[in-house]
Amino acid sequence: MALLEILHYPDERLHQRAKPVTEFNDELRQFIENMKETMYESNGIGLAATQVNVQKRIFVTDLAKENEASMFTVYINPIISDKIGEIKGEEGCLSVPGVFETVTRAEKITLQYHDEKGNLHTITCDGLKAICIQHENDHLDGKVFVDYLSGLKQNFIKKKMKKLFKK
Ligand code: NI
Repeated sequence: MALLEILHYPDERLHQRAKPVTEFNDELRQFIENMKETMYESNGIGLAATQVNVQKRIFVTDLAKENEASMFTVYINPIISDKIGEIKGEEGCLSVPGVFETVTRAEKITLQYHDEKGNLHTITCDGLKAICIQHENDHLDGKVFVDYLSGLKQNFIKKKMKKLFKK
């Protein structure tokens, strides 16, 4: 296993559209293991392949609280087919460390995805899980949650990131 390097906003590579996974092989499963390790090492609840500069439609999540058993899930070629209602939640992102802002999302979604073996799943979910899935799915379309904020806030965050990473 290996830790992967996470891209930081406003890196242009975060704004690429990821391509569908076509082969469910050992290479894919090894990459997922590395994503899992990288997410846990960074104390994140979600990580998209785009964030580690791999342009494939894959993201992983684990929404378990500290004292709960792992709820690790991998979503491959996800498609959100239904969005109902609105919910506001505070979001953060491993690509934008230290920044937490309120974003409006659909409250309830229906999602189709493949697991690492290629099996197709359809789920309906709401609350934190729905928010997290929409946030991660956005990454695969080249979108970061900062993109939903005002221009003023975006500039402020860009300056903050520049200072943090001294680019
Ligand atoms: Ni994110």
